[in-house]
Amino acid sequence: MIINGLGYLGVKVVDLADWISYATTLVGAEVVEQDDQQLKLRIDDQYSRINVIKADQPGLAYVGWDVGSEGSLQQAIAVVDELGISWREGTQEECQDRKVVKMIKLKDPGDNDIELFYGPSSGHKFRPSRDMGEFVTGDLGMGHVLFLTPNFDAIMEFYTRMGFAISEMIHMTALQGYAYFLHCNRRQHSLALGAAPHNAIGHLMLEIESVTDVGKAYDIAKYEGMNITMSMGQHVNDKVLSFYTQSPSGFDLELGAGGLVVEDPEDRTVVQYEDISFWGHHGGLRNRPAP
Ligand SMILES: [Fe+2]
Repeated sequence: MIINGLGYLGVKVVDLADWISYATTLVGAEVVEQDDQQLKLRIDDQYSRINVIKADQPGLAYVGWDVGSEGSLQQAIAVVDELGISWREGTQEECQDRKVVKMIKLKDPGDNDIELFYGPSSGHKFRPSRDMGEFVTGDLGMGHVLFLTPNFDAIMEFYTRMGFAISEMIHMTALQGYAYFLHCNRRQHSLALGAAPHNAIGHLMLEIESVTDVGKAYDIAKYEGMNITMSMGQHVNDKVLSFYTQSPSGFDLELGAGGLVVEDPEDRTVVQYEDISFWGHHGGLRNRPAP
């Protein structure tokens, strides 16, 4: 196992105020740094988990995967070299910006800019921007991401070589095929991969400890007129109760509670499902009427 968990995201937005409003009204993230070019959002004791960058177009800037140590970083470099993927060491300025000890930068086979790092700045006090409890992070990482790509075999090989193991495959009508869900720690999945005509990030998922806080967030999204891209529902694989809204960076943010943990991360027993949810999640990935 090389990657320990999802560490942080860099996201692009045209108007920083859109992310400030979205983060503080809906998500509950704390704005810990802010100037006219960028802002940093905290959701736990790590300095920041979402770094928002002002840009001409919204989208994903980078994904930081925590490898935990210098030894793991060296193992990652060996894998990247074997796969013939070019990489460079993160500059001192980049490491200071992300507040990590060291990182390397490369593109995964889905054309996502990723940063393999260790040594995040930790031990900070998280003050939620609205009345709510904690996010579920720690050794489970900050949540999960879904990547879509035409280079499906290559991205699967890349992330399994980085230590991810398949939890399950789920048939998705929107993809006309199966999406693969992978774990690298006790979180049921930290990564989902799907074959699609274009490279894209599908969504970022953040887990909140309390179902009540997720329900309150759902009310806020509805009453504030936010773009709810998938209604409240429950996923079959991680059993999470969640809903999706479109973030100011274009891709969706899933907010959920009650995610399963895998007791033994070395368990490689794979299952498959024919639908992503027991109920709900209407829109986007699950366009079918309620039974
Ligand atoms: Fe998800």
